[in-house]
Amino acid sequence: MVEIKLRVNGAEAALDLEPRVSLLDALRERLGLTGTKKGCDQGACGACTVLVDGERINSCLALAVQYEGRDITTIEGIADGDRPHPLQTAFVRNDGLQCGYCTPGQVCSALGMLAEHETGMPSIVTEDVAAESIPLTDAEIRERMSGNLCRCGAYNGIVAAIRETAEGMRR
Ligand code: FES
Ligand code: FES
Repeated sequence: MVEIKLRVNGAEAALDLEPRVSLLDALRERLGLTGTKKGCDQGACGACTVLVDGERINSCLALAVQYEGRDITTIEGIADGDRPHPLQTAFVRNDGLQCGYCTPGQVCSALGMLAEHETGMPSIVTEDVAAESIPLTDAEIRERMSGNLCRCGAYNGIVAAIRETAEGMRR
């Protein structure tokens, strides 16, 4: 066992953990933050996506002990108190979910993706990688979100929600 401190959604928690415990299991089983979902537990579905220092990661592939001292944000930390994040509202407005199982991962991943796009990071479908500003087309959104699967097939609504939120951020 090792003793670690994790900072999740702004709150610090001390945990005694076996070094092999994944960040996903630490969040869900030890901290009770069950918003982050376990789909495949092997890095293939994106359901477990959380933000670490603003960057998206698959928490099922991460060991909790690696993340001491980092700022971890889960879906429980995305809203501003009782006010949902505009992206969460956009998911509802655009029917970006059905069963909702993939949604926490989609929301965290989309926020990480929008931050990546803001830095000018190109993707495999970017036509002009030297462009000063890369247009966030639907093809870009789909490619950049391709690590997040939705078994309900709510992809059109997910893309629409992300597009709407990105447009709102630019205004
Ligand atoms: S549960 Fe982590 S990628 Fe599927
Ligand atoms: S809404 Fe059901 S898996 Fe995506």
